[in-house]
Amino acid sequence: MLVATTIKEVKEQVRQWKKEGLTIGLVPTMGYLHEGHASLIKRAVLENDRVIVSDFVNPIQFGPKEDLGTYPRDFDADCKLCSDLGTDLIFHPEPSEMYAPDFHSYVGVDTLSTELCGKSRPIHFNGVCTVVSKLFNISEADRAYFGQKDAQQLAIVKRMVRDLNFNIEIVGCPIIRENDGLAKSSRNTYLSKEAREKATILHKALEKGEAMVRSGEKDANKVVSSISNIIESEPLAKIDYVEVVDWNELQKTDVIDGPILTAVAVYIDNVRLIDNFIVE
Ligand code: PAF
Repeated sequence: MLVATTIKEVKEQVRQWKKEGLTIGLVPTMGYLHEGHASLIKRAVLENDRVIVSDFVNPIQFGPKEDLGTYPRDFDADCKLCSDLGTDLIFHPEPSEMYAPDFHSYVGVDTLSTELCGKSRPIHFNGVCTVVSKLFNISEADRAYFGQKDAQQLAIVKRMVRDLNFNIEIVGCPIIRENDGLAKSSRNTYLSKEAREKATILHKALEKGEAMVRSGEKDANKVVSSISNIIESEPLAKIDYVEVVDWNELQKTDVIDGPILTAVAVYIDNVRLIDNFIVE
């Protein structure tokens, strides 16, 4: 496996692969890889001749009061996992490699980016779209793999690719969970032992909500109330949002009469966790 820290190195390798007619899969990550990332890499390895994993904590998607400084990192462990899974190249640039001091160009998707997490993280999705656009251009990948855990991110990246005619297929992959249902996330490491136990309330509440929708409940507000009540029964939990939105424009809906995303963001002992389910 090649370890590249510069854009030039990646581009040179990509040029070679393209000359040989090989397809390329890209798995964009911020590192501290877990089984959720592993599932994306495994799928990319199955579906492409060559796989690039980017491992970059993207500073421009963090707000001033967010966890950029403390975001967990372990590049050696990431390299081992990527190599074991058959990754061909891991791209691990410094922020200065990605953002020149006079960097002024940003990519954004409106409407979808201001809902759900966009309300409390106003710059987040423009930061994501900008870095992802750069990674798509650098890697010239045929396919890129994103987890459904970040469902809003997945919807936004798909829309950006469609609207701006990027020559890449976006592949959404299922949420990977711990045995007790908690969605895997690099941020789970912030949870104390007690908070980690209580964090399962998100999945429990969403399971109940999903069962309601699948058995025909059409009133989105009833689904939201049921999920909120379960989460609020846990004293360590503080809801940021519980919403049912249409799985196209991500706008709040009162009536469930088409594909929907039900998404939650909850602080458990001050650690912000997200989870969701989609009913197509
Ligand atoms: O989902 C993530 O880890 C990040 O938002 C991404 C897509 C790698 C962009 O920095």
